[in-house]
Amino acid sequence: PLISSQQVGQWSANHIADRINAFAPTCERPFVLGLPTGGTPLATYRALIELVQQNKVSFRHVVTFNMDEYVGLPATHPQSYHHFMFDNFFNHIDIDPDNINLLNGMADDIDAECARYEAAIEAAGGIELFLGGVGADGHIAFNEPASSLASKTRLKTLTADTRIANARFFEGGLEEVPTQALTIGVGTLLAAREVVILATGHNKSLAVKEAVEGSVNHIWTVTALQLHRKAMLVCDEASCQDL
Ligand code: GLP
Repeated sequence: PLISSQQVGQWSANHIADRINAFAPTCERPFVLGLPTGGTPLATYRALIELVQQNKVSFRHVVTFNMDEYVGLPATHPQSYHHFMFDNFFNHIDIDPDNINLLNGMADDIDAECARYEAAIEAAGGIELFLGGVGADGHIAFNEPASSLASKTRLKTLTADTRIANARFFEGGLEEVPTQALTIGVGTLLAAREVVILATGHNKSLAVKEAVEGSVNHIWTVTALQLHRKAMLVCDEASCQDL
């Protein structure tokens, strides 16, 4: 049978739960998990919520860091990534709110906010597992084409393609999509001890092809995964069809 986006969600949720469960008894520190937004990880979040409800995993000793946030959207805005995360995940699991880290896209001093975030990741002991999605143009988090592969958390201007792709979530369409975002860098992602990138649907098939068969380059930032010693892509059948 063909592998569905549902199975990608279930498999990745099981993988994350296994990692958390294996970590807890042997380590004094909490498990540090990097998280994405977007349509792709929704199936993973649903499956993780079920695992929490079935007592198969707990987030009491998990610290999270989200990948990115729009600039100019308050946390209460329905399309802010802050709101997305609470609505789709944090409100439904047993995580301590103090352990949730999000970028503040409303910060007065953007550079200070980005530096604060990198310092917080370091103070937490670095990220154990970073979960991500991928854009159709191969961007990870908001590391748009032509991002430095060594980049850390910073401000990025969104490409027209990204704004058009994300307009589907905004009631007022494209006009309402912010033009800038704060995002962890490619370097921040590569510094995680494990990276798991999800890809589902036919519109991700070129990004998957570049990630697997292309050379490492700063246009398709997902190709940077090839430099990581423990990175994997979890794909459905449709996203693999150009391999
Ligand atoms: C946005 C997010 C990315 C995400 C991408 C694809 O650009 N910043 O983290 O991977 O969208 O989203 P979707 O999963 O909805 O296709």
